[in-house]
Amino acid sequence: MEATAPSTPLSIRVRDLDFFYGPQQALDGVSLDMPRQRATALIGPSGCGKSTLLRCFNRMNDRIPDAVVRRGCIEVEGRDVLAPGLDVVSLRREVGMVFQKSNPFPLSVFENVAYGLRVKGESRADYLEHVVEESLRAAALWDEVKDQLHSDAGALSGGQQQRLCIARAIALRPRVLLMDEPCSALDPVATARVEELIHGLKRRYTVVIVTHNMQQAMRTSDFTAFFYMGRLIEHAPTQAFFENPREKMSQDYVTGRFG
Ligand SMILES: Nc1ncnc2c1ncn2[C@@H]1O[C@H](COP(=O)(O)OP(=O)(O)OP(=O)(O)O)[C@@H](O)[C@H]1O
Ligand SMILES: [Mg+2]
Repeated sequence: MEATAPSTPLSIRVRDLDFFYGPQQALDGVSLDMPRQRATALIGPSGCGKSTLLRCFNRMNDRIPDAVVRRGCIEVEGRDVLAPGLDVVSLRREVGMVFQKSNPFPLSVFENVAYGLRVKGESRADYLEHVVEESLRAAALWDEVKDQLHSDAGALSGGQQQRLCIARAIALRPRVLLMDEPCSALDPVATARVEELIHGLKRRYTVVIVTHNMQQAMRTSDFTAFFYMGRLIEHAPTQAFFENPREKMSQDYVTGRFG
């Protein structure tokens, strides 16, 4: 099912996507559009293909043996993501990712955020300082860490570490931010902070968030895509999806009858 026409330019376009892990099909004929500067939530029961789809957008599935797209196309910011000669490193700079479990590098707070820029060959200290501060501010973490920039990132709380990972992704000035259950390891206070942060982030980026928490999908997203066993069942503006789901299966999921 197609959602109503997005009101801002298209950021991600998926058509007829079939994805397999060896003989097992994980995505079946998925087509959907995601607009720029909006958040789209991917929801559905465990194993329905949410993470698989997310990982397609920055070719993270390349690392999994026997994982293959058999049919379909994906464009991210006008780029053919599945093109064989694609520069995957440059794609991943443009399409940042935040995982379920925060994964700071065993480095200082500062060096975590500066890491991607250093890998790109940036070494000007004043420029690095500027981007680190800007990214930590954008991740709503600056005030909490500005006096411990050179301490080990591992000493931060779980919620702070997750915001640090968001800052690390932002430092590369991506156009798209993918988040796979970014709050599932956080307490309610830290979750609220990250959700608040998502509201600010989507003013600048395309945000795609996978979540098992329907309240979270309602609070953070503009569009919701509901999947079941690899198929996109319904894709609609979030409020309409939760207030008045069109498909029986979506109704059952939203009312907690399965999943
Ligand atoms: N690395 C892998 N190798 C083989 N099969 C996989 C792999 N990763 C996922 N799958 C299978 O693909 C299907 C979709 O998995 P995926 O992880 O995308 O689901 P999900 O919706 O993210 O689930 P969850 O909510 O539990 O995270 C499942 O049947 C899963 O078993
Ligand atoms: Mg998943």
